[in-house]
Amino acid sequence: MTDRTPLVAGNWKMHGSRAANAELLAGILAGQPFKCDVAVCVPSPYLGDVAQALAGSGVAWGAQDCSAHEHGAYTGEVSAGMLAEFGCRYVIVGHSERRAYHAEGDQAVADKAKIALARGITPIVCVGETLAERESGQTEAVVKRQLSAVIHTLGPCVGEIVVAYEPVWAIGTGKTATPEQAQEVHALLRVQLRAATQRADAMRVLYGGSVKPDNAATLFAQPDIDGGLIGGASLKASDFVAICRAAG
Ligand code: 13P
Repeated sequence: MTDRTPLVAGNWKMHGSRAANAELLAGILAGQPFKCDVAVCVPSPYLGDVAQALAGSGVAWGAQDCSAHEHGAYTGEVSAGMLAEFGCRYVIVGHSERRAYHAEGDQAVADKAKIALARGITPIVCVGETLAERESGQTEAVVKRQLSAVIHTLGPCVGEIVVAYEPVWAIGTGKTATPEQAQEVHALLRVQLRAATQRADAMRVLYGGSVKPDNAATLFAQPDIDGGLIGGASLKASDFVAICRAAG
């Protein structure tokens, strides 16, 4: 992890209720202080509640997606400008669930990252291969293609983003990439970033996919893994806090 401050971000996906969120956030806040940066990315209707609950704390909050457009006739979408009005710090873009179920392509993901940055929100750009792509030896080509669209769209500003490597086959499956498998891809991404920005060595590249308290420390100990994007385990305060501790 060298001298980069790790980031552990929870991705609640479409889970929660006002009561459950309040309990979860209280549990996370009770785990403070953290040595790493900590954030929770929550469903849009809860952004206001979560902003209020976390105000003045060391835990940041973010959204799980934003529109690729500034404003307009895009029913159901939320713009980066709207998120920024609440003080949103991070937004996940290009999560594999959005790529798969909402047909988001590489360019749309890059456009979202650009618009988020323009509004002062740090995009957490997800890349990752499916099982079929890994088994046919395409992992490197797939993640490079996904990141390359973002690099071309942002130019040197790409140094301002957070990247998350999330192998699709490891998401919600209990199958984690081994630390070596993850590190191999993270190192490739770092090399690609170095060619695009002088800030590459200061950038956080997170790992996501079945990170749990018992595997977090070995993953985070890899030289190019700078924290995690946590799904299921971010819904249980004690697990999430333990993962944050593993990064600090
Ligand atoms: P899980 O931690 O549940 O595998 O989810 C990972 C993920 O998709 C985070 O964005």
